[in-house]
Amino acid sequence: MFSALTAALALAVAVYALPAARDTGAVQFVGTNIAGFDFGCSIQGACNLTQAYPPLSALGGPDGAGQMQHFSKDDGMNMFRLPVGWQFLVPSPGSPLDSANFAKYDQLVQACLATDAYCIIDIHNYARWNNQIIGQGGPTNDQFANVWSQLATKYAAQQKIVFGIMNEPHDVPDIDKWADTVQAAVTAIRAVAAKQMILLPGNDWTSAQQMPTKSGPALLKVKNPDGSFDGLIIDVHKYLDSDNSGTHTECVTDNISTAFQPLATWLRANKRQALNTETGGGNTASCAKYLCSQIAFLNANSDVFLGYVGWSAGAFSAATYELSEVPTKNGNTWTDSSLVKACIARKSS
Ligand SMILES: *[C@@H]1O[C@H](CO)[C@@H](O)[C@H](O)[C@H]1NC(C)=O
Ligand SMILES: *[C@@H]1O[C@H](CO)[C@@H](O)[C@H](O)[C@H]1NC(C)=O
Repeated sequence: MFSALTAALALAVAVYALPAARDTGAVQFVGTNIAGFDFGCSIQGACNLTQAYPPLSALGGPDGAGQMQHFSKDDGMNMFRLPVGWQFLVPSPGSPLDSANFAKYDQLVQACLATDAYCIIDIHNYARWNNQIIGQGGPTNDQFANVWSQLATKYAAQQKIVFGIMNEPHDVPDIDKWADTVQAAVTAIRAVAAKQMILLPGNDWTSAQQMPTKSGPALLKVKNPDGSFDGLIIDVHKYLDSDNSGTHTECVTDNISTAFQPLATWLRANKRQALNTETGGGNTASCAKYLCSQIAFLNANSDVFLGYVGWSAGAFSAATYELSEVPTKNGNTWTDSSLVKACIARKSS
């Protein structure tokens, strides 16, 4: 009794001694990816549009709208990331939006907004258009900024839209030139959308581990037109399988000491914040162990980590996809994958 009381007092003191005002012990944003409009896009940024598979029953696909309603209502999720191929949106770099395709994608965006969640528009092209890197031999920065200008114009009034500039740049030869590309997109977005969050992607597949030393120094220079950094959030991914690829159903690490702890230190030193927009694993005991551990660390460092978004629900097959977070529906009841149930869901948002 006595020792329990002492321990409780010691804990209370420790809690009051916590410094930062934003250390609430829980990240602001929790959610999943709702993939499908990106299907058919390769890691070289080439998209076979016949393979795009809209996660919307109204378009003949799986019920992504219902998934988001379930996640929001039953699991306390408040953020969804909506990947789409650049080629799905425009027929060629710099051209006007394909209005028929944009209308389809917008149905998913509207279904997301209807849940009152934050909705990330994610151009899922790996820094490329058909094997060529933006601003480094491929499309020009202006052509890339143009698609963002058009999307920002469409969603300028929606404060819960988040602009995810680019999914997983990799093997980009010149990081300073890449930062110029990111800056061009930010400048184009800010010309019409002053306040919404914008996610800044680094090289190395937006690796959480590489950010502080490799991409970070260049990305830190990207700023708003008024010189501030408000709303400019560092985008990071992290998988927990043996080769960090997110393709195996067993996890081997929580990567805290090698990735998230050094990243947290770097973010604090530079007064910036990050969002983990892809994490996950198989529906296995090892992934539940390590992912829950990673998420506990993010929650404990919520002054610098805004949230996490699991990969992936949407149009994947719950039965066959290794990293499925797709819930299954029976009558009116949705059942979550074991990993979502164990680690990603947050009952009260
Ligand atoms: C695109 O995907 C379709 C459907 O899988 C396939 O039949 C077609 O050959 C693909 N086209 C190219 C150019 O790879
Ligand atoms: C993650 O952890 C594994 C196992 O400890 C280690 O081999 C790997 O280098 C780490 N990777 C990252 C990105 O931190």
